[in-house]
Amino acid sequence: MQKDPLLQGTPQRDLLAERMKLLAGSQTSGMRNRARKLRSEGIHVVNFAAGELDQDTSSSIKDAARQAIDSGRTQYTDTLGINELRERVAHKITEKTGVTYLADEVGFTAGAKQALFNANFVVFQPGDEVIIPAPYWVTLPEQVRLTGATPVILPTVHNEFQIDVGELAQLITPKTRGIILNTPHNPTGVVYSARVLEQIARLVLQHDLICIFDECYDELVYSPAVHHNIVKLVPAMKARTILVGSLSKSYCLAGWRAGFFAAPKPVVKAIANLQSHIASNPCNLVQYAAVAALAPDNDAFVAGNRELLRAQRATALQLIDKIPGLPCVVPEGAFYLFPDVSSLFEKSFKGQRVENVDRLAELLLEHAHIAIVPGSAFGADHHIRISYAIPTEEIIAGLTRLGQFVQLLS
Ligand SMILES: Cc1ncc(COP(=O)(O)O)c(C=O)c1O
Repeated sequence: MQKDPLLQGTPQRDLLAERMKLLAGSQTSGMRNRARKLRSEGIHVVNFAAGELDQDTSSSIKDAARQAIDSGRTQYTDTLGINELRERVAHKITEKTGVTYLADEVGFTAGAKQALFNANFVVFQPGDEVIIPAPYWVTLPEQVRLTGATPVILPTVHNEFQIDVGELAQLITPKTRGIILNTPHNPTGVVYSARVLEQIARLVLQHDLICIFDECYDELVYSPAVHHNIVKLVPAMKARTILVGSLSKSYCLAGWRAGFFAAPKPVVKAIANLQSHIASNPCNLVQYAAVAALAPDNDAFVAGNRELLRAQRATALQLIDKIPGLPCVVPEGAFYLFPDVSSLFEKSFKGQRVENVDRLAELLLEHAHIAIVPGSAFGADHHIRISYAIPTEEIIAGLTRLGQFVQLLS
């Protein structure tokens, strides 16, 4: 029987839209998946690539989720969350900023990632430039690109990852529409000072820009360091700032997908419209759990996590300091070390050249059985990211292996 050429079906044109051609999957997830695979083969891999705490959430959060199931909470909710939750988020942000936020100025999302995407999508468009300090959390420039705007990268490596406001000012052009700040910072752990944030706020006001302020790690700051919120420092910023927060980190809820934002009302409305066509409301059960999470009785749970991380940070810093040639800025927040590994480039491990940070990550996984995230994922190709939000014995085992690996380089 003669074959009908039409029914052969091979597409003649690209299946993918142009906008997808430059979009890679998140490299941080990539390393996590490879580590998981090795583990499933019975290999003890120390997973320094995680972006979350290695422990259970609080019992009151779990009880609230169970209760929501038992009481038949199966329905859709308002796109940006049930009112009780929005009230609680608004209260939390009001306390944090000292500036009043009402329930209709905030929204709840399936993680901060979704809040950030929505925020980018509703305020940036093709032709806009958006300044992002580098190193950056891997998703930030990708989300800007997905809106058709152009990320403009502000290097900070030469300044111990702090923003030089003079250098930032030089990047502002008539096309600049916004700046995305993240403090405490992933991947470096730095916390921006009040002075720097005030100066940035002045630039934002002066040039009529929008600020997306990602403070997902705001509760994980180690005294004497202090987290500063840009709206608290400069209340006039409320009218042009989108604050983004997360329950993933401090409340150990990463997989439940729980994030929130606060923004000027037209932005909130636009985000609600956008989200209503994408996934509607975030998981209804998670919303009930989040109401419990944000109740004051969970403050002690968060404080406990912070203390645990402080101890883990001390252990990790002590061990990394002993490895020659890996200088590391002391992180003041979040749960990452971000050492400079460039002194290892051009050396070899058993005849295999460590030509760059990606190769280093592969060799470390293959031979030392430690998973780290190469700094290239964050726009910093001389560094690696090490998460210390893992059990102390794992930190010790992993950093000991890292030291042994470095010793074997020639
Ligand atoms: C800086 C930063 N922003 C946002 C997120 C996203 O958090 P969520 O799990 O709430 O989507 C992360 C997660 O790693 C992060 O590091």
